[in-house]
Amino acid sequence: MRDQPGRVPEGSTGARAASMSHRRGEGWMDEPDWRRFITAYHQEHAGITEQLFSLADTSPYAWLAEPLRAVEGTVLDLACGSAPTRQELPDADWVGVDLSAAELAEAARQGRGPLLRAAADALPAASASVGAVCAAMCLPVVTPLPQTLGEIRRVLRPGGVLAALVPSQSGLSPSGMLGWVRVMAALRAVRQPWPNPQARDGLPALLRTAGFRVRRDERHVFTLAIDSAGAAALLADALYLPGLTTHRAQAAKRSLARWATPGRRLELPLRRVVAELPIEQQSQETT
Ligand SMILES: C[S@@+](CC[C@H](N)C(=O)[O-])C[C@H]1O[C@@H](n2cnc3c(N)ncnc32)[C@H](O)[C@@H]1O
Repeated sequence: MRDQPGRVPEGSTGARAASMSHRRGEGWMDEPDWRRFITAYHQEHAGITEQLFSLADTSPYAWLAEPLRAVEGTVLDLACGSAPTRQELPDADWVGVDLSAAELAEAARQGRGPLLRAAADALPAASASVGAVCAAMCLPVVTPLPQTLGEIRRVLRPGGVLAALVPSQSGLSPSGMLGWVRVMAALRAVRQPWPNPQARDGLPALLRTAGFRVRRDERHVFTLAIDSAGAAALLADALYLPGLTTHRAQAAKRSLARWATPGRRLELPLRRVVAELPIEQQSQETT
């Protein structure tokens, strides 16, 4: 691990601002606003992604971790949150990194570690020191994404593996689609205004452009049991909706609680992308 563990860069560089500015006209938040939102959100809802996934029929984290079990060397869990992949890789030389103190505290409370507080675009690891990067549900929301992908490339050893889990917008059955229409209508939301929508179904292309070799690109439709008022409230909280007021969230939870009858299932299509850092490309870069 490198020289500056725990360093959290502040402010927004020109490059970061440039990477976000093209979206302003499309109604996206700018990067400082997004950072403020995500910091406050995780402060209030530490561990929420893991809690939501505990409603799934099978564990998305086990699915993500499966291609990492044979990897040699350190596994760096990028934006690890409450560190649910730690228990999926019990024998790995694992280290979790996240920007949120509250998420890391939740991970520590569950006995998971080691943990480092750092930003995704300034990873506390030496160049070419890591065998794998695990990125669970983070690439669509971490900023700045180009610099984050650059950091993943920097810390991976030649031939190292990136395994990423992201939400997929395709794969829903017609009834699954209706379920999401119901949920989003309750929340009065049209879409999730995340900063990196291209890092969902477009992730394989994005990684190729960033110099990775994509080895696997798979989709799996999990189902969430939304069968109680508690599960409905968890779902409403877990969707990362910056414009959601407290009043609207409460109304949505009441509405979804009526919908969340025993046996109610909500489809959740996820995409697992496994990519590799080509050996020859990195050695060319270092010469
Ligand atoms: C959707 S949660 C996923 C957490 C965990 N990987 C999981 O799947 O349960 C996204 C995580 O990204 C972290 N995060 C967001 N932006 C970040 C950044 N720029 N650098 C590091 N972590 C960041 C958040 O604090 C949060 O823990």
